[in-house]
Amino acid sequence: MSFCVAIDGPAAAGKGTVSRAVAESFGFAYLDTGLLYRATGAKTFEGLSPIEAATTLAAEDLDRDDLRSGDAGQAASRVAAIPEVREALIDFQRAFARRTGGAVLDGRDIGTVICPDAKVKLYITASDEVRAQRRFAELTAAGEDTTFEKVLSDLRERDERDSARATAPLKPADDAVVIDTSDMSIAEAVAQVVRLIQQKTV
Ligand code: CDP
Repeated sequence: MSFCVAIDGPAAAGKGTVSRAVAESFGFAYLDTGLLYRATGAKTFEGLSPIEAATTLAAEDLDRDDLRSGDAGQAASRVAAIPEVREALIDFQRAFARRTGGAVLDGRDIGTVICPDAKVKLYITASDEVRAQRRFAELTAAGEDTTFEKVLSDLRERDERDSARATAPLKPADDAVVIDTSDMSIAEAVAQVVRLIQQKTV
């Protein structure tokens, strides 16, 4: 039986942490779809065109150690606005969503485009400052030399680009449950999401 949980939201809202915890507690597989766009964006650093990068994306491209950097995030959001890039990545994501045993996918268009019939749709968000603070902590822990102000302005620029694009823009699906984690610990957010999914699985 397939059971898809779709988790969307703006940059650094805590989607990844919540998705991993949910996948673990229900035994579902987890796909971080942002990584596909980050890997595509990073391949353009070597001179490939975005469409070439997306159509030749291979498993080893997801192992690069620069994918979590601020630059890879910006490159991801630029290539993600190109319809042919999104098209090249759709089949893999849809097949993952249908896998037997359940799947959690996080991204920007999971509830709207990739998995419109997902059993559970969530839109996880938080204030710009809280998200920038969380991302700043992650990037500095990973050794990136950056400032809170740069992280905040990068994140706003990326959200603006992701929301304004014509193809699969960032927005909550009409039937998504919106969770604002600004004043919540990640553990509280996870507990809330687990309860929601339990209601759908009984
Ligand atoms: O981790 P963070 O929330 O900062 O970003 P991410 O999920 O790794 O996604 C990086 C970028 O990829 C986003 O800013 C989007 O432009 C793009 N993306 C997308 O367009 N569609 C998705 N399903 C996932 C990511």
